[in-house]
Formats: sequence, C-alpha cells, structure tokens
Amino acid sequence: MNYQVGVISGDGIGPEVVREAKKVLDKVGQVFGHTFSYDEILMGGVSIDATGMPLTEEAIAQAQKADAVLMGSIGGNTSTSPWYQLPPQLRPEAGLLKLRKSLNLFANLRPAYLYGELKEACPLRDDIIGDGFDMMIMRELTGGLYFGNRVTEERDGVLTAEDTLTYNENEIRRIAKRGFDIARKRRKKVTSVDKANVLDSSRLWRKVVEEVAKDYPDVALEHMLVDNCAMQLVKDPGQFDVILTENMFGDILSDEASMVTGSIGMLSSASLNDTKFGLYEPSGGSAPDIAGKGIANPIATILSAAMMLRYSFDLDREADAVERAVQQVLKENYRTIDIMPQEEKKASVTQVGTAKMGDLIAERIK
Ligand code: IPM
Ligand code: MG
Repeated sequence: MNYQVGVISGDGIGPEVVREAKKVLDKVGQVFGHTFSYDEILMGGVSIDATGMPLTEEAIAQAQKADAVLMGSIGGNTSTSPWYQLPPQLRPEAGLLKLRKSLNLFANLRPAYLYGELKEACPLRDDIIGDGFDMMIMRELTGGLYFGNRVTEERDGVLTAEDTLTYNENEIRRIAKRGFDIARKRRKKVTSVDKANVLDSSRLWRKVVEEVAKDYPDVALEHMLVDNCAMQLVKDPGQFDVILTENMFGDILSDEASMVTGSIGMLSSASLNDTKFGLYEPSGGSAPDIAGKGIANPIATILSAAMMLRYSFDLDREADAVERAVQQVLKENYRTIDIMPQEEKKASVTQVGTAKMGDLIAERIK
C-alpha cells in the first residue's frame, strides 16, 4: 500500500533527524512491501524565511491532505535568532501551535521508557532505577494556558501581562478517555496530575476524570498534585504507567521524564485527533547549538515514525520491527554522543553520528 506522509523537516537538527527517519521508513517499505511518498511542508523558521509566516494556510492544507505528518523540530536560539525579534504570533512556535489547533490534535502521547542498555546514561541512582520504568505521558494539547486569551497592557500605569487557563468538561473528557483506553492496553493504571489544591480548572479536571473512570473499572486511578509528580518522577519513576495531565503540566513533566530515560534524544511522541491522522515528532527541540554537526540523535524521530506506523497506519508488525532494530543497535553498543556512558565505561561502546545511526537501524529492519 502507498502512504502519503507529510514531512516537516523544520529548523535546527530537524532536517538531519528527519532524513534518518525517512531512511528507516523506506527500508520498512522495501521489507514489508509498502511505499511511502513524502510531501515537504514548510513550518517554523524556514517558513518565516520563505514566506514571512511560521505556517501558511497552504501548509495546513498540505498537512490535512496527508495520511500522517512526520516532523523534525522547529525554532532557533531564542536569544540570538532574528525570528525572536518578531511579534509572538509570527515566531516559529506559533506555527506548531496553530497546526495542533487546526488539526484538532488534542491527545499527545509521550512514552518514556528506560532501555536496559541505557542504564548508564540515566542520571538516577541504581537503587532508584530498580527494574527500570516504562510510562506514557498523555498530555492534553489544544487547551489550557497555551490557547487561552493573553494580553500585555498597561493597567493603571503598570505594565501587566495576563494568560488564561481554561478547560471545559468536554475537552477534559475526551483526553481522559484516551488515557484510560491506552492504560487498558498497558499496566492498567492512570495517574491524573493536577493542581486541584489551588486551581479551579484542576478541580474540574479531577471531577471529570473521576466520572470517566467509572467506565473503566479495570483501570486503577490515582490523583497526584503536579509538584509532587515532579518529585516522584525522580524518586520512584517505576510507579507510573499512564500519566494523564493538562497541556502546560504535560509540557514540563515530559521533559523531566525524558531526561530520566537518559536523553531527550530518545523520546518519541504522537499527537492525535479523533481520526487516524496524527502528527509525529521527537519530544526534544531543534537543538540549534548542534545543528549541522551530524551528531544529533535520530532515534526519537525514528521511534516517532514507528508510532506513525502503529497509530495512523495500523502497521503493528512494521512498528515492532523498527523498535526492535533500535533495541538491537543499542545492544550492539552503538551510541550517539548524548547517550554515551560515563567516562570509565566509554571504551565498551562505539560512538556514531546521526547518519551512521540511521544506517545501522535501517540495516536491522527485517
Ligand atoms: C513541546 C515544545 C512545544 C510546547 C513548544 C515548541 C511550543 O516544548 O512540544 O513540548 O511547549 O508544546
Ligand atoms: Mg516541551
């Protein structure tokens, strides 16, 4: 079968890591008899440079036409790039937020999994790591502070900025259902994270999540305050299965969770709506400091492509093959620089660059 993949290479390390993910997809195509055709879509800084806008209507239409979209990363150095001299709605990130909203991508799945082979890169002590951890952060992606009204204005002679955190029960219900559905296919535990001791939006969140939980008697539900969750992630990460949370909390907690897996360069993500369509992107950023050096870790993007095979195309066998190939290269001790072990163990592994890592993974797809 032929699949139409929209591709947003974007900025920074984006084009380098996307190239490797396409290499892996093409190998999947060869081995399993599919074809993937790619349609390059402009978004972020490259789009600003070409069109003056971080995301054009034409780009949105291209994304809508695709079966799924694979993305690298967008944005640059916020203190030095001219993109950040522009008004906020014209900056690279505004393109991503607009795309998420236009395509109604309300469910963001961010798996954080510790590969046994990467224990050495994990900053936590062995006794904390225990048998490792495997959690799925379900982040609401189209509501909350990111999309509420915001304004900066003078009020009684004082410069004042305001951001609004709004959620309605329908927005909470649909992400909660997704969270419970996913938990059912995993270890059947949902930790719903909020700040219900302070925020009204969190109190509504908790109420709606409890209502949804009634339809999932086989799934255990617990509530956790977000500050406590930040602590528990480094104290006992193994306790988590599905973490269900709102947009801003999910943004912060997913970076934290990624780092305890060893590197943000390992973390894939999927942003889904209520159709088969999805936007797949590594959780890490554009890393402008290492862009163009050929050293970025492409694994997060390759694993995002695997999520695309699984969630948008229902190609589970193919997705398994990609995930196994990643595991295999790690087992064979190949590492990009971000997942190198500490000094004394360096001799036992081989450091490789972005393209070589892509080759090694592609070769192991079968
Ligand atoms: C992410 C990123 C984005 C976000 C930025 C680039 C707007 O940090 O996907 O986590 O905050 O959602
Ligand atoms: Mg983030």
